[in-house]
Amino acid sequence: MYRFDPNLARAHTLPARWYLDADLLALERRRIFGRTWQLAGRADQVERPGDFLTTTLGHEPLVIARGSDSTLRAFSNVCRHRAGPVALGCGNRKSLQCAYHGWTYGLDGSLLTTPEFDQVENFDRRAHPLPPGQAGTLGPLLFACPDATAPTLAEWLGDIPKETEPLGFERMRWVKRVEYQIECNWKVYVDNYLEGYHIPIVHPGLYKQIDYARYSVDTFRYYSRQDSPIRVTDTPYRRNLGEGENPQALYYWIFPNLMFNLYPDNLQTNLIVPIGPEKTLTIFDWFFLDADRPSIDRDFAQSFAFSDPIQSEDIAICEAVQRGLRSSRYEAGRYSQKRENGVHHFHGLVAEFLGEVAS
Ligand code: FES
Ligand SMILES: [Fe+2]
Repeated sequence: MYRFDPNLARAHTLPARWYLDADLLALERRRIFGRTWQLAGRADQVERPGDFLTTTLGHEPLVIARGSDSTLRAFSNVCRHRAGPVALGCGNRKSLQCAYHGWTYGLDGSLLTTPEFDQVENFDRRAHPLPPGQAGTLGPLLFACPDATAPTLAEWLGDIPKETEPLGFERMRWVKRVEYQIECNWKVYVDNYLEGYHIPIVHPGLYKQIDYARYSVDTFRYYSRQDSPIRVTDTPYRRNLGEGENPQALYYWIFPNLMFNLYPDNLQTNLIVPIGPEKTLTIFDWFFLDADRPSIDRDFAQSFAFSDPIQSEDIAICEAVQRGLRSSRYEAGRYSQKRENGVHHFHGLVAEFLGEVAS
């Protein structure tokens, strides 16, 4: 039985089996992805009353909708009749109609009509609303949580809204999406993101651009932040910086599966979606300040030319690590006290949310 040790100097990393096992992933889908705040889309997709979109977090299909009262809500996208989908894709509607037998629901989740159901005994429509989740926004990002009893988004994000506001976060607009499929467990990719320890070896190009000695990771209740002072002056980051201002990249990771990389004029989100125990989809979205500027294609290309080789280097090492985890000779490792506190913090949250795991 694995026991997480909160003492970094004494702790061992998660067992290798947790990166390989299909049953463990099913448990993570229920206990982690079914109970936490995750990126569900963009705030502009649910701006107007009647706007809705659908997504699935863990095993939970969800609808996120803005009601005619302008309130943003999330609820289960599973019909109370025989589990059909109440909404498909995204759009704008006054009510939602199940794609199976046509029951209709209000944008607040209430059950409105149930055709040919008059003779059914002991059935009160008012007692059959769609179970609620939670929804909220941060700048251009739309978040949802399938669990109505989980902490609020404000509690989850802590000081992030305060820290991102001065960077123009609220005014950034979506420009581009790029996806990468990786042959590794989702936690291998997250572990790798959460430390700068590998930068000198895996990313020699990046290493020259940052001040590695001053690279730091701070951990908070449900997120961590990496601060990386940028050394060179001719990077894409200089745009929108005043003379004498020091470029700074802020890397946030929000448990369980969202990173966002914030530069002086753009934001890149990385959403890490498990597809199988050893297969992961990473979805990168770029948001820019002044996204309608004439040079936006060139500026995106410049930002992508910087990040894509780094992503290739990370993919190669993550896939090699996944092969290593399959070896019968490896069970678990240790953490660098100086450089891997962020990984240790993530493992603590994984262990906390999974609770008891049968070995
Ligand atoms: S499953 Fe929704 S109406 Fe039958
Ligand atoms: Fe990396």
